[in-house]
Amino acid sequence: MTTSRGRYYAGLQLITAVSNANLSLRRTCNAIAKAIAKSMGMTGCRVLLLNPKNEYLTTIGSFGLSDLYLRKGPLDARKSLPEVLDGRIAVVAHAPSDERLQHPEVAESQQVVSIVAAPLMRGQDTIGQLRMYSRETHSFSRLDEEFLRAAANICAVVLERAELLQFKERVKRSCAKTPRRALPAQMPVSSLKPTEFAHESEVEFANLLDFYQIEWLYEPRSFPLGWNGDEVSQMFTPDFYLPELDMYVELTTMKQDLITSKNRKVRKLREMYPDINIRLLTRKDFARLLSKYGYGPMGDARVEGVGRILYSHVQIQRRVRSLGRRISKDYVGQRIVMIGVLKGVMCFMSDLMRHISIPMRVDYMDISHYGGEEDVVKITRDLDSSISGEHVLMVEDIVDTGMTLNYILAHLASHRPASLRVCTLLDRKPRRLANVKLDYVGFEIPDEFVVGYGLDYKGEYRNLPSIGILHQE
Ligand code: IMP
Ligand code: MG
Repeated sequence: MTTSRGRYYAGLQLITAVSNANLSLRRTCNAIAKAIAKSMGMTGCRVLLLNPKNEYLTTIGSFGLSDLYLRKGPLDARKSLPEVLDGRIAVVAHAPSDERLQHPEVAESQQVVSIVAAPLMRGQDTIGQLRMYSRETHSFSRLDEEFLRAAANICAVVLERAELLQFKERVKRSCAKTPRRALPAQMPVSSLKPTEFAHESEVEFANLLDFYQIEWLYEPRSFPLGWNGDEVSQMFTPDFYLPELDMYVELTTMKQDLITSKNRKVRKLREMYPDINIRLLTRKDFARLLSKYGYGPMGDARVEGVGRILYSHVQIQRRVRSLGRRISKDYVGQRIVMIGVLKGVMCFMSDLMRHISIPMRVDYMDISHYGGEEDVVKITRDLDSSISGEHVLMVEDIVDTGMTLNYILAHLASHRPASLRVCTLLDRKPRRLANVKLDYVGFEIPDEFVVGYGLDYKGEYRNLPSIGILHQE
């Protein structure tokens, strides 16, 4: 008994020391995981962070576990030992046969026999979890529990401090961007990024997803692509996983010549794992994605007017008229509410409604945009009247990533309309991330930034009667 007390004392000493050693978050968590596993005589340990909606657990530090075991994908917090969410310690005596585990077969292949999981708490809230693995059956004593609770408390403080530091960084960055902006009074809950990103573009991408309130995980899973006998010889780890969209995203912002090899890997991944949905965003794609918000790598590129007309005024009018007729036919005998998001949609909406022959109302919304005043997407102008029980037709100028529309449709659906459809003038499919259903589409356009007929670049060009491609240097 005294010897295990001694071991635990030494363990806690080590944990407090590494916690205060100014290491990166990942290295601190790795060191804590190691100290816990060694003190408890376990094979491995990992530190898991819970997402703000209490759905997914992602690994932020580990010790003693094979790569495959670690990267088996996001853990569903409600399926995998859910009692830990309520602040309890979970003990699994025989992992391969336990129903509470999400991937028991992985435990078996790694010869893991018993598992102990303890919550990381901030006050009453669970913010993460410690998980320990053993190749032997492990009994769990009162003393073990006391040690585990103490280690978990220190670990939770480490996470909180990391969160605070990251928040300070973010504020510093956003103040540099918009100098006169007031400091936010409060730290947003669970803003912790469990990650040290490899590239600035990954930080930017994570910020963009945060803005649109789209959950993400950084490098949560590796896919073996090739074997050498029993050993994995080639592996691919996509940068992001977006659980709500069930999509992996790989950003290739490195040298263009490396893209070919990455393309090959992605192709192989798609062949070997046909159920996996993966998107490759090249540096160019990504720059375009950001430049639409008037900043990012290409945000300051010199713009020299419209380079090429894509659709003339006459072509647009003809298409809008036929859309209006189709809509009137589809909704015959009903009345609709047409809703537009300001300001890009104004030309399209005012032309479209003049070709609608059924009774209708219009309403407008406005939302905050990435890179502006707000930290997350917000409705800055809401509807004038209720849409509950109404047939709603959401009208958009252009659907690009789909993130705006995804957000707005969720908002509208929560008001229980009788039906909800989408009509967009332009559809730029190559850059779609959120898969939203479009019922009426004017034109499918190539992957180019367009202006005119209501669409702007940094507020200008809306007054052009035609739609053109912006000429960028
Ligand atoms: P999404 O959320 O990425 O689908 O972006 C949709 C919004 O971005 C649109 O409603 C437009 O306001 C804006 N946008 C996207 N692409 C363009 C473009 O090529 N020109 C002008 N605005 C654009
Ligand atoms: Mg818009």
